[in-house]
Amino acid sequence: MRISIHTDTLIELAESLNRTESNQASILTLLAQPECEFWAPALCLAAAYEVIRQKHGDVPGRRLLEFVQKRISNVPLRGVTLTDCLQNNIGNLEAASHMSVNSLVGIDAVLSSTLQSSQINGLRCMTPNELLAQDFEMPLSGAVPFLDLKAQYSKVYNEFDDRLTEIMSNTGFILGHHVEEFESAFAKLQGAKYCIGLSSGTDALHLAFMALGIGPGDEVIVPANTFFATAEGVSLTGATPVFVDSNVHYNIDVDSTRRLLEQRGSSSQIKAIVPVHLYGQPADIDGVVALANEFGLYIVEDCAQAHLAEYRGSSVGNFGAFGVFSFYPGKNLGAYGEAGALITNDDGLYEMARRMRAHGEASKYKHSEVGHNYRMEAIQGAVLSTKVKFITEWTEARQRNARKYKALLAGIREVQVPEEPDFAKSVHHLFVIQVEDRDELRAYLDQNGIASGLHYPLPLHLQAAYKDLNYHVGDFPRAESQAERIISLPMYPELTEYQIERVCNTIKQYFSNK
Ligand SMILES: Cc1ncc(COP(=O)(O)O)c(C=O)c1O
Repeated sequence: MRISIHTDTLIELAESLNRTESNQASILTLLAQPECEFWAPALCLAAAYEVIRQKHGDVPGRRLLEFVQKRISNVPLRGVTLTDCLQNNIGNLEAASHMSVNSLVGIDAVLSSTLQSSQINGLRCMTPNELLAQDFEMPLSGAVPFLDLKAQYSKVYNEFDDRLTEIMSNTGFILGHHVEEFESAFAKLQGAKYCIGLSSGTDALHLAFMALGIGPGDEVIVPANTFFATAEGVSLTGATPVFVDSNVHYNIDVDSTRRLLEQRGSSSQIKAIVPVHLYGQPADIDGVVALANEFGLYIVEDCAQAHLAEYRGSSVGNFGAFGVFSFYPGKNLGAYGEAGALITNDDGLYEMARRMRAHGEASKYKHSEVGHNYRMEAIQGAVLSTKVKFITEWTEARQRNARKYKALLAGIREVQVPEEPDFAKSVHHLFVIQVEDRDELRAYLDQNGIASGLHYPLPLHLQAAYKDLNYHVGDFPRAESQAERIISLPMYPELTEYQIERVCNTIKQYFSNK
């Protein structure tokens, strides 16, 4: 639930914090509800602060500000508030500012004991007690979206707003200290020596292969079941992807890859192998490393869906030449636009990839290689530096949600839930199940307001873009069968237990109606 707090309730909050009022419990109990996001127009905060300071002095005033800083996102006075005020003929800027909060995030209620809905264009007004009597778990609509990117906004809003304003005023729009701050935080988090901030995950893949000197005439092993960009990164260098089948965990199948490498023998042009940690689940790294050592291949790990995932206790992305990350908005760590990164532990590769992300520039206007323009924008560095502080908490929430899904779906014979191998600590970017007649189940979920996805409906060897490579239906039976049976269920940290129960009950209902 998204709540905007009016001046009178902020005063009540300050007095509760100051323990001078007897009804202190309700507002503080409400503010402790993890399911609620709280917003306050800065105008209301300023007005409440002044009242408290005049009535009770500086210390209670400061206490209010400190509390707001930790728990409530405050929305500055924007031009749109003045427009709302004028267009809707509202004679009170504080009241009108809730309408601006509403247009910013979509609020469910304004917390106030004095405002009337009619004063703020019909927005619902409630007292803390009235709101406490509600069922918080229950979203106002029963719909379960596939993703809810707005759910994280309140956590990062104020810090990001400050950083954005700083970027605008300093006009340092590309790379710069926000990107550098993120690079060092992310390298540390992933246990890598270096991180290079880039413009997207696709660019990161391309750059990794370029930095390794892969180009025309070379081949690179890519699993058939992955997002198109994994192979595209290879093709952009002029090299050719060589597809292989997936295993039961949707990741690269090491046994059939070995057979392929043995068949190619000494005439092989295969230079690298790309394990993709698909859906957030680590691939069989020991198997891949053994192949790479035996056949002299570089490893480039595609970790676009696997921030913080671990293979035998070590973070993914550190087992080969490069780990590739995407911060596409829907990823476990998402930017507000396109962004990606490489991690590496190799000094030489770091220097090369860092130069190549900026036209191979060794010093101002002196270019030692042909690279590209793959620099991360400062705004994305600012978003990611702000959000990265929450990634551990968000990852744990995904893991909790996956456990809940598995427990609730366990009793449904027709549903195959994802199994985690012993070596893997998955971060559940996606929660993918398999069923027969998946299109029918998807339609049923859709009729019941539950969104789902397909990742991915057509394996890469059957894509029109790769028709010249002459693959055929039947070449990779497991990837093809998975593509026909998979459904991705809603998965994000803020998904509530109620929503997971609703998804699972709907699936149960579907099979019991059959
Ligand atoms: C497995 C995989 N690889 C690569 C990419 C490409 O990342 P980006 O969208 O940031 O270019 C994605 C993202 O969609 C992905 O899921």
